[in-house]
Amino acid sequence: MTPITRRQALKLGMLAGGSLILPIAFQGRSYAGDAGSPKVTPFTLPFRVPPVLKPVRSDSTTDYYEITMKKASVEILPKLKTEVWAYNGITPGPTIKQNKDRRSVVRFINNSVGTPTSVHLHGMASLPEYDGYAEDLTNPGQYKDYIYPNNRAATLWYHDHAIHKTARNVYMGLAGMYLVQDQEELNLPLPKGDYDVPIVIQDKQFGASGNLIFDDQGEDSQFGDVILVNGVPWPKMQVANRKYRFRILNGSVSRSYELALSTGEPLIVIGTDAGLMSAPAPVKSFRIGMAERYEAVIDFSKYKVGTKITLKNLQPDNNDNYDGTENVMQFEVIRSESDPSSIPSKLRLVQPIAASSAVRTREFRYERSNGLWVINGKTWDNQRFDASPQLGDVEIWKIYNNAGGWFHPIHIHLIDMQILDRNGNAPFAYEKGWKDVFYVGANESVRVIGKFGPNTGTYMTHCHNTVHEDHDMMNQFKVGAASVNLAAKAPAKSLPAPAL
Ligand code: C2O
Ligand code: CU
Repeated sequence: MTPITRRQALKLGMLAGGSLILPIAFQGRSYAGDAGSPKVTPFTLPFRVPPVLKPVRSDSTTDYYEITMKKASVEILPKLKTEVWAYNGITPGPTIKQNKDRRSVVRFINNSVGTPTSVHLHGMASLPEYDGYAEDLTNPGQYKDYIYPNNRAATLWYHDHAIHKTARNVYMGLAGMYLVQDQEELNLPLPKGDYDVPIVIQDKQFGASGNLIFDDQGEDSQFGDVILVNGVPWPKMQVANRKYRFRILNGSVSRSYELALSTGEPLIVIGTDAGLMSAPAPVKSFRIGMAERYEAVIDFSKYKVGTKITLKNLQPDNNDNYDGTENVMQFEVIRSESDPSSIPSKLRLVQPIAASSAVRTREFRYERSNGLWVINGKTWDNQRFDASPQLGDVEIWKIYNNAGGWFHPIHIHLIDMQILDRNGNAPFAYEKGWKDVFYVGANESVRVIGKFGPNTGTYMTHCHNTVHEDHDMMNQFKVGAASVNLAAKAPAKSLPAPAL
């Protein structure tokens, strides 16, 4: 079904009393504001990466960090000020870089952000009381110390998860990168240091004065017409003619992307959500749903100094008048440099989990029903568990999306899983690794397999279109015996906080 923009709807007379009355099937991809955001010329602003956060203190086992959530006024569009709600006042927030098996304690302080928060470190096998359970809220004037074990090397991200407000809070800026590395990975000849670059892609909609517009179109989806990379509209990154490793996160609320290079050269995918794959997968393009992470190497040695290469999105809102979402960022090769890096044919063994090792299969239908987003017909209920595997059980979850109008990236907390098949066929070459988000396109189904552990307790599953999650495409499962009263185990405390 061809999506329809709000402007087209206006022309077609499909708006009544200011609200969109569309046949439900038309409400797929969407418009980007009536007037469009203030214009920015793509590839004119410099690329940057978020700063790496220093611990406030370290001991033999643990690094202690502190992050304050606050409102801040920042320049995103040239010469305009934008209010964001952000970790340490910057968005994306500071990057935490940690070594495997060292523990992190991160104190998240809810200072002036003006709304209750819950912080989820997406991809970490945290204990339930540190997992950002949606109802485990830290109110303004409180703080909470989250403990993270860092038990494997991967590209993670932290973001808000407050019940019914996740989409708005993340959209306003509450998101940041969290990288865990280990020696095995550092020993590989992959690009490192300055050549290992995080990329957070988000789409935003701005008003004329630079203000962020959050409009979920009646609890459907939030789309923007400006693509930010690490908080900068369509930046230009100056690179050397060598290989770079990019850790790409789709941090958008509702928009997915299909990434490709303008030159037609491959992106060499080396990692999925939860770390390196067994072997590199060179692909012409790959799609990335919200909260998915892919790591890809781009080899700029093929290009002469002076060449510009655009990172494209092959699934933009073509029928929008606001061109822009077809571009993500640009690379400009500006210097020659020797390249000691290479991409080994074996990265890290991802041992396939055999379907025959599963003790049961569960089925989850993600759909729209009576104006709500539901899983097996149900909305969020903090007293109901929709699955209860025992610790160590291997299960297959079959995830369906039977509708034509939407796609749902499904996130399962706590565990890393593998895709057994997609619509009965093999998964795409680039998704044959450990994953915690599964792109379930229109009329698609995936079977995923994983082992429940290492923790017991209560964990959430939801669509990572956070508008869908908020209203109310989210449920929970328990591993072993579990309590829903997580806040009691590690409560948020009142400020002022004692020294960490
Ligand atoms: Cu990234 Cu439950 O979310
Ligand atoms: Cu969804």
